[in-house]
Amino acid sequence: MNYKIALIRGDGIGPEVVGEAVKVLDKVGEKFGHTFTYTDVLMGGCAIDQVGKSYPDGTAEACKACDAVLLGAVGGPKWGHSTDPEKRPETALLSIRKDLGLYANLRPAALRPALADACPLKKETADKGIDLMMVRELTGGIYFGQKERYQTEDRGEEAADRMAYSEKEIERIGRRAFELARLRRKKVASVDKANVLETSRLWRQVMHRLAEEYSDVEYEDVLVDNAAMQLVRNPSQFDVVVTENMFGDILSDEASMITGSIGLLPSASIGDTAPGLYEPIHGSAPDIAGQDKANPIATILSVAMMLRYSFHLADEAQAVEQAVDAVLAEGYRTADIAKAGEKAIGTLEMGRLICQRI
Ligand code: NAD
Ligand code: IPM
Ligand code: MN
Repeated sequence: MNYKIALIRGDGIGPEVVGEAVKVLDKVGEKFGHTFTYTDVLMGGCAIDQVGKSYPDGTAEACKACDAVLLGAVGGPKWGHSTDPEKRPETALLSIRKDLGLYANLRPAALRPALADACPLKKETADKGIDLMMVRELTGGIYFGQKERYQTEDRGEEAADRMAYSEKEIERIGRRAFELARLRRKKVASVDKANVLETSRLWRQVMHRLAEEYSDVEYEDVLVDNAAMQLVRNPSQFDVVVTENMFGDILSDEASMITGSIGLLPSASIGDTAPGLYEPIHGSAPDIAGQDKANPIATILSVAMMLRYSFHLADEAQAVEQAVDAVLAEGYRTADIAKAGEKAIGTLEMGRLICQRI
């Protein structure tokens, strides 16, 4: 079978980690008899440099012509924070998510067996294991509300970002979370700030309705500040965690670190129709870009999610995950997960070793 994949390599370490993930896909193709064909799609800071805007015309159409999208990362200090949205790399990321209808962002944070010693939590906490699925709402909330900036008479300049959620938006992400929980340990924790925010009170109302419908799934509400604390106190209590866009952004970086490094955590952004978009949760890491230091595992595991969710190739996905675990079990570490004084390998070497074990 032939699968068409759009590649948005992006900025900073994006092209480096996507390069390794593509080698992994090619190895999977060779081993299992599939062909993957790639279309490069320009987006992000590199697009500002080449064509003057971060989200060139036809970007969404080019992605829609493919079966799935793989994205590295966009952004970096070079493009600062222009007042013109077209000149901000991050605008493109929000646009592609919206235009492809990718309202559900699945971010699985699991402590891989070989990396127990990379977990920064107390040993007895790490020993209980971490295996949670963060389900982040991705196309609503404060990210997409009206933005304003205006001069006041007596308080200087003022800025505002509107946060809004509709019942429909909450219900569809909630359903995703409950459906996923049924395939896992049947627990959903819904994270909100219902003691303060009206959007959260509506969120909770809709989630409670779903909890009654999915009565076989254990359900709890957790306030976001408490959730941030519980993640480091006892992450083993969580199975599926569902939350709105910005809370999910923040909590998933936290969740990644307790499993060892942000360089490990993959994600799948999906909607009701293809293509899905797969991306590591980390950014363009300008501090290490171009130095062969980035950990490619988050992007390689994103490819495993692509194989599983978009192409329904479960054995192939597992082969990639097992190759990652095998290389880690043999003691190979990129700098972000190496212990002090331990020798680290580079991006290319990590990619090569993982390919070799598929
Ligand atoms: P970042 O995730 O790029 O980096 C945070 C820290 O983690 C840095 O020290 C970096 O070196 C390290 N890191 C990240 N990925 C790593 C990897 N694979 N291996 C080893 N170390 C890794 O976050 P930031 O510095 O806040 O953001 C940099 C730029 O990236 C910003 O412009 C931001 O908007 C953008 N960004 C893009 C995405 C995306 O495209 N999906 C996501 C997050 C941030
Ligand atoms: C992420 C990133 C993006 C987000 C930024 C770059 C817009 O942090 O994918 O987690 O906040 O969604
Ligand atoms: Mn983020």
